[in-house]
Amino acid sequence: MAAASTARPRPKVIVTRRLPQAVETRMAELFDVTLNLTDEPFSQDQLAAAAANCDVLVGTVTDRIDAAVFAAARAAGRLKLLANFGVGVDHIDLAAARGADVVVTNTPGVLTDDTADMVMALILSVPRRLAEGEKLVRAGEWRGWSPTGMLGHRITGKRLGIIGMGRIGRAVATRARGFGLTVHYHNRHRLPAEVEGALEATWWDNLDAMLARVDIITINCPHTPDTHHLIGAKQFALMQRQAYLINAARGEIVDENALCEALAAGRIAGAGLDVFENEPAIDPRLLELPGVVLVPHMGSATFEGRQAMGEKVIANIRVWADGHRPPDQVLEGWA
Ligand code: DGY
Repeated sequence: MAAASTARPRPKVIVTRRLPQAVETRMAELFDVTLNLTDEPFSQDQLAAAAANCDVLVGTVTDRIDAAVFAAARAAGRLKLLANFGVGVDHIDLAAARGADVVVTNTPGVLTDDTADMVMALILSVPRRLAEGEKLVRAGEWRGWSPTGMLGHRITGKRLGIIGMGRIGRAVATRARGFGLTVHYHNRHRLPAEVEGALEATWWDNLDAMLARVDIITINCPHTPDTHHLIGAKQFALMQRQAYLINAARGEIVDENALCEALAAGRIAGAGLDVFENEPAIDPRLLELPGVVLVPHMGSATFEGRQAMGEKVIANIRVWADGHRPPDQVLEGWA
């Protein structure tokens, strides 16, 4: 008589975008996986259909995983895990996920350094007019060195105001100190004294007060209902005219219309943006304004980082499939 098999069935996994090759290959070994070989983002109908037809959905920031998607999942009664490829979860309706008994995981920690590097790249690029200089050279319009050519502003000695002092904010602070910036920060909770001391960081309980005092502002907090349009017309009016705004967190934290108006009016000196309010659409005024450096949401875009994100997704699925709480479960206190 044949021995009864104790092997668990492989979970049915649907992935909404192309992932690094090694990650896809490993997923195919481990799971009954459907990959998205075209890399075309799913429509809302496709997301709902996927959520109804798998145990695990691997989504990412380009998917709007809303209440309707979770309603479809709930009706089908199959989806148990949403393993997000990325750290931000503002594109996921977490309350609807909980209502549908779907566990949500993300990929924290592995993109901290890459994102902080991108923030520093923007901090250096905007005051030093890197993009303008590059365009000048490529256009064949550079006439050689001159004592008054391409002047920008010095980084060393300026005050940096960090909004959000989580992993990425702290990694930015560490780097910024190496460039001679003084570190100021606004965070819901003050950092422990030893962390604050090591970074020589000054905590501002009041965001508006900090905005009025710093030269460069970098946004490194998550996008939540509380931080939506945290920076708008009122905040731009408080900033110094020579201030620069850097955003590599989420576009929706800044009122993009108010930003364009502030830049056009010379209310602030410039902006470095990796993220936009209506990605991939960009307010056309941003393309024309001087003092603006724009990059396409590439803070975590390193081979190493994306591979590590994929490994975290796989680990979360495997631990969940083994009947344990996945390591990167979003929201505390879930069953
Ligand atoms: C994230 O992880 O949330 C990034 O924005 C995409 O890498």
